[in-house]
Amino acid sequence: MINLAHYLSEIITEAVQAEIPEIKEKFIINSDKDKEWQYATPTAIKIWNMNKKKGGLGFANCKELAEKIAEIIPTTGIIERVSTLKAGKGPDDKSGFFINIFLQKAALAERLKEFVYNDITYEAEKKVKVVVDFSSPNIAKNMHVGHLRSTIIGDSMCRILEYMGHDVKRVNHIGDWGTQFGMLISHMEDTYPDFLEKQPNISDLDGFYKEAKNRFDNEEDFKTRSRETVVKLQGGDESILKAWRMICDVSRSQFVQIYDRLKIVNNEYGESFYNDMIPPLVERLEKDGVIVEDDGCKCIFVPKIKVPLIVVKSDGGYNYDSTDLAAMEYRVNVEKADRIIVLTDMGQSFHFKQLEGASKLAGILDPKKHRFDHMGFGLVLDANGEKIKSRSGESIQLMSLLDEARDRAAEVCKQKHENSKEEEKLTEEEYLERGEIIGMTSVKYYDLKQNRTSSYGFSYDKILDPKGDTGVYLLYMYVRLCSILRKGGYDEERLAEVAKEAELNLETPEEINLGLLLLRLPEYIDGVFNDLQINKICNMLYDISTQIGSFYANNKVLGDEKELPRILLIELTRKVMKTLFNLLGMDTIDKI
Ligand code: ARG
Repeated sequence: MINLAHYLSEIITEAVQAEIPEIKEKFIINSDKDKEWQYATPTAIKIWNMNKKKGGLGFANCKELAEKIAEIIPTTGIIERVSTLKAGKGPDDKSGFFINIFLQKAALAERLKEFVYNDITYEAEKKVKVVVDFSSPNIAKNMHVGHLRSTIIGDSMCRILEYMGHDVKRVNHIGDWGTQFGMLISHMEDTYPDFLEKQPNISDLDGFYKEAKNRFDNEEDFKTRSRETVVKLQGGDESILKAWRMICDVSRSQFVQIYDRLKIVNNEYGESFYNDMIPPLVERLEKDGVIVEDDGCKCIFVPKIKVPLIVVKSDGGYNYDSTDLAAMEYRVNVEKADRIIVLTDMGQSFHFKQLEGASKLAGILDPKKHRFDHMGFGLVLDANGEKIKSRSGESIQLMSLLDEARDRAAEVCKQKHENSKEEEKLTEEEYLERGEIIGMTSVKYYDLKQNRTSSYGFSYDKILDPKGDTGVYLLYMYVRLCSILRKGGYDEERLAEVAKEAELNLETPEEINLGLLLLRLPEYIDGVFNDLQINKICNMLYDISTQIGSFYANNKVLGDEKELPRILLIELTRKVMKTLFNLLGMDTIDKI
């Protein structure tokens, strides 16, 4: 596919510049959903405002200029006609003029038809290398809903970038290093004295962490020993390293369960990976005068930010800041990333502002070459608007949260079958299988559709509501498309024949709206690439679903004289929906 808005911008800009060389502006094209025209440009207004004091390029007012531009725009190929429209209510010479662009239905239909038998692809013109740092839970602590958000959003972001053909490196920056390992390992030595021979069975690592912390806070000897253990760990003591690996393995096996369940792929480059890179980096930046001493710490002061990034603590140790600075350098210089995206909750925004600023000062990030984004997100709240917790007050276990979503979705599916004929009813196991897909899809969708930076309330009822903007509703609409194709006997083979026999038409308003929406896929994707508002992909999926609703209401398919062209449109809609589900990391079903 191509990005139609970009395409129109190019042909219009080129045609106008050829005729009026003084115009250097690139035409901005906005897509105007629900309007009679499909695209519009405000650029004539901008050009007028820039030139009106300098003779207005020989035009008396914006109206004249806009009319001239409208005349220049070529109305062959995809553009059917253009018109001008006064912006605002003021008198003509005060208000600017938009130029509206009407597209040729037949040309659109022809473009669409191609994708009935070809894969729906959209490649970026310029491919870049992107490091996406997402999920990133902490060893020896439970993965919490914040990490779940990071995992879901990060995976989808990677899928979108991969779909565009960018070179994506999925990075799991797990918290596997730091002083907490001193107390964890010391506590392990006491609790499982034979740990070097036998992998200790610590299934409740969170509880284990709390025990260790409690001892650290209350037992002086233990505290001293823990500190010594950290030094040994950093010094590379073999048996201490072995203990460290064991603890990491226990956590990792728990994270993997969640990743498998959500079908997430990522590569672990934990904090420990960057440990050896810190000292030479600090040395270099000290020489360069970027790192300065302040209150016993080694810091980087970023202009306009009062609090410095602390690269070396007063006790000589490194921290989250130091690791992130080394990670930034590694990603830019070794991974050769053009773009780096890090996902965490909004609580860490300040840290990443400091980090970005410090990386620029340090000459690691070059604003002309690299783009850094902290892709922050809001909290997940419970029904009372508080940070989500389970009844016991512990942070809720992610696995049981996903289990409950599956079970409830299975129940929704079962209810759907209440009035089905006996032979169409499913077994309990089959309901659970569908429940798993509907449940995971719905949890992901509910998360992704949010305005990313706001917090949202977690409610199974809302997430699994069969009506409204939910995963369940979208899957129902998808299933409806599949079932029409099934009922009409349109399997893959038959569809290939239909594609040869029939044309796709865009005639009724519903056909036009639906068809045009499908062609806009690249615009939505480019939008997410630019501003990281991933919910745009959800919006498109939801818009398609509501369009399908109005399409069915007014356009008969099976048994109509336009059955074949409409079947092509339906198959195409199904394929675009499937593509979007895929970009969001969501599985589909073709039957409820
Ligand atoms: N482990 C951190 C946390 O749980 C998130 C790490 C994000 N990535 C990074 N490069 N700082 O808050």
